[in-house]
Amino acid sequence: MSKKVLAIYYSQSGQLGEIIDNITEPLINAGIAVEKVRIKPVNDYAFPWTGERFYDVMPDCVLGVPIELEPIVLKENAYDLIILGYQSWFLSPSIPSNSLLQHPSLKAVLKDTPVVTVTGARNMWLNAFVGIKKLLREASANHVGNIALIDEHLNPLSYFTIFHWLLGGKKTRLWGIFPFPGVADEDIRRSKFFGETILPFLTAGKWDGMQEKLITQKAVAYNYSLMILEAKAGPQYIGWANKANSSKHRKRVLSVFKYYLHVALFVGAPILLLIDAILIRPFSSQKVKKLKQNYLNLN
Ligand SMILES: Cc1cc2nc3c(=O)[nH]c(=O)nc-3n(C[C@H](O)[C@H](O)[C@H](O)COP(=O)(O)O)c2cc1C
Repeated sequence: MSKKVLAIYYSQSGQLGEIIDNITEPLINAGIAVEKVRIKPVNDYAFPWTGERFYDVMPDCVLGVPIELEPIVLKENAYDLIILGYQSWFLSPSIPSNSLLQHPSLKAVLKDTPVVTVTGARNMWLNAFVGIKKLLREASANHVGNIALIDEHLNPLSYFTIFHWLLGGKKTRLWGIFPFPGVADEDIRRSKFFGETILPFLTAGKWDGMQEKLITQKAVAYNYSLMILEAKAGPQYIGWANKANSSKHRKRVLSVFKYYLHVALFVGAPILLLIDAILIRPFSSQKVKKLKQNYLNLN
C-alpha cells in the first residue's frame, strides 16, 4: 500500500511552502500520497508587516501563547510521515507553528508518528528548534529528521535585508545593491535532494541513519557564533517579553526593545564573540561539541 505523508506548515511569504514543495517533489514523483496543508490563523498576521505590529507579537511569541487557527481538516487518521514546517520568530517557534503543535487535530495524528521538521529562517533557528522539539515530545511524536535552511549572508547584512523584505513584502535587493533576503533560491531548489534522501527511509519505514545523512548533505545550517548569540539572547528576550506584558506602557517597552535589538546586534554581539573567542572557546572544545550535538540531535 502507498505510504501516506502529511506536509503541514504556516507561511506568510510562501518561502516555507516553496521549501516544502521541493522536499516533497521526489516523494510525489515516486507515487507517495502527499497531503499538503497550509494552515491559517483565524486572525492572520498581515504581510507585509508594519514595524509596530512586528514588535507587538514578540511577547506572546516568546512566551508561547497560542492563537486560534482555522479548522484543520485532514484526509487521514494516520500518516507514515509528517513533514512539519515551522518558522523562528524572535528566537521562538512562530505563534502559528506553536499553535499548530498544540492543536487537537494535529496532536491526534502526531502520536507515535515519524516527523521531519523543516524551517526556513533568517539564521537564528536553534532556540525555536528546542521549543519545537519540546512540543513534539509532549505530543509523543517520533522526531526522525530535521532540515534547517537559512539566509547564509553575514548576520548584520541579513538583518537589514530581512526587514526590507518583511516590511516591504517583496523578496528583492534593498536599494538594488544588498543581497537578496531570505533563503537563497538555489538552496530552496537544493532541498529536493533532501526529499530524495528521505524517500528510501520512508519506503522502508526505518529511520536510523537518516538524520546523519541529511547532516552530511548540509541540510542543517549550524553556525557556532550564532549559537553563542542565541544562547545569550534567549533568556533576555524572555525578560523583555515579561516586562512588556506586565507593563502599563507596553508600547514604550517594545519600542525600547527595538533599540536593544539594534545595540545587541551591532555593539553587544561583536564584543561577546570577541570575549568568547579569546577566553572561552579555546578552553572548552568538549563543551562546544556537546552544545552543537544538543542542537543537531533530535531527542
Ligand atoms: C515576527 C518575525 C520574527 C522573526 N524572527 C526571526 C528570528 O528570531 N530568527 C530567524 O532566523 N528568523 C526570524 N524571522 C524570519 C522567519 O523565520 C522566516 O524566515 C520569514 O518570516 C519567512 O517565513 P515565511 O515562510 O513565513 O514567509 C522572523 C520573522 C518574523 C515575521
